Amino acid sequence: MAKPVAIEVYNPNGKYRVVSTKPMPGTRWINLLVDQGCRVEICHLKKTILSVEDIIDLIGDKCDGVIGQLTEDWGETLFSALSKAGGKAFSNMAVGYNNVDVEAANKYGIAVGNTPGVLTETTAELAASLSLAAARRIVEADAFMRGGLYEGWLPHLFVGNLLKGQTVGVIGAGRIGSAYARMMVEGFKMNLIYFDLYQSTRLEKFVTAYGQFLKANGEQPVTWKRASSMEEVLREADLISLHPVLDKTTYHLVNKERLAIMKKEAILVNCSRGPVIDEAALVDHLRENPMFRVGLDVFEEEPFMKPGLADMKNAIVVPHIASASKWTREGMATLAALNVLGRVKGYPIWNDPNRVDPFLNENASPPNASPSIVNSKALGLPVSKL
Ligand code: GLV
Repeated sequence: MAKPVAIEVYNPNGKYRVVSTKPMPGTRWINLLVDQGCRVEICHLKKTILSVEDIIDLIGDKCDGVIGQLTEDWGETLFSALSKAGGKAFSNMAVGYNNVDVEAANKYGIAVGNTPGVLTETTAELAASLSLAAARRIVEADAFMRGGLYEGWLPHLFVGNLLKGQTVGVIGAGRIGSAYARMMVEGFKMNLIYFDLYQSTRLEKFVTAYGQFLKANGEQPVTWKRASSMEEVLREADLISLHPVLDKTTYHLVNKERLAIMKKEAILVNCSRGPVIDEAALVDHLRENPMFRVGLDVFEEEPFMKPGLADMKNAIVVPHIASASKWTREGMATLAALNVLGRVKGYPIWNDPNRVDPFLNENASPPNASPSIVNSKALGLPVSKL
């Protein structure tokens, strides 16, 4: 029997060979690569997570660049294989790159791309969705209806939390954390407390201005506070959303001790990376505190959940879909492809990875630059003057 064809090829005679370890949304990313002389190979292997060996096979003897996924282990072995195949670039189709050993990439002179900017609002919107779903017990109530249990309106049925006037806590007020904070402050008139090593002046100014607007309209103004410790946020906030990057310093940032200082009826949301929470401790905490609720997009050992989590009614769990809007996922594919294309063609690095709009405009050619290369300084790559 013939072997199933697992590789889809575009522009077979292209000069540069670019491999994508997964099919990605949209077609613009393929067209952009093909238009600039790339042969594009897309892996359709029916396996959700590719192993290092699978990817070595895909790289083969000649490969100029690879677009990969956050589920893959990009370390010494893969960068060495890519470098031997003549490769110059790898891009994650993700903003986070904790799956990538950047030191190893530096050693082989391989550029590492990521996709910031395009997923900020989409990710913040999912964090907001989980916040509301947890506050108003949407998932439990939906299961109740579908289970045929609704017999009529009752005063106590699925009573949850009102967000207005409560305090939203943000741990990590970078791009996504700040976008989420703005949504919750403006949309639900929550007060803000945040913890970040850097001051978020823009966010503070936004809350101040919105507070003044509310006051001028005879409403209770919203307030903001920059906490001096993470514990201060955990103690004071009614709803807390986690937005740090995952590294050694943020592993199990939310542990048993820190869960214990949160309010008994608090809501915790995580759309960053699973290991930021000690998930086993969280399951115990959910069990002991039925009014404490959590909304999780990410898990400590994806794709698995820690024993007991799936049984907790006070947990809402979704499969790492924070960036999953059509526009964002197509944009991520485009940025990842352009990161690789830029290095393959020797273009400079875009000077502001937060300002990626020119690359996403479907009605114009993108700038001749790699939108976001995280190790550009280490590799001494030139920066675009545009
Ligand atoms: C998704 O989790 C990402 O980092 O883009």
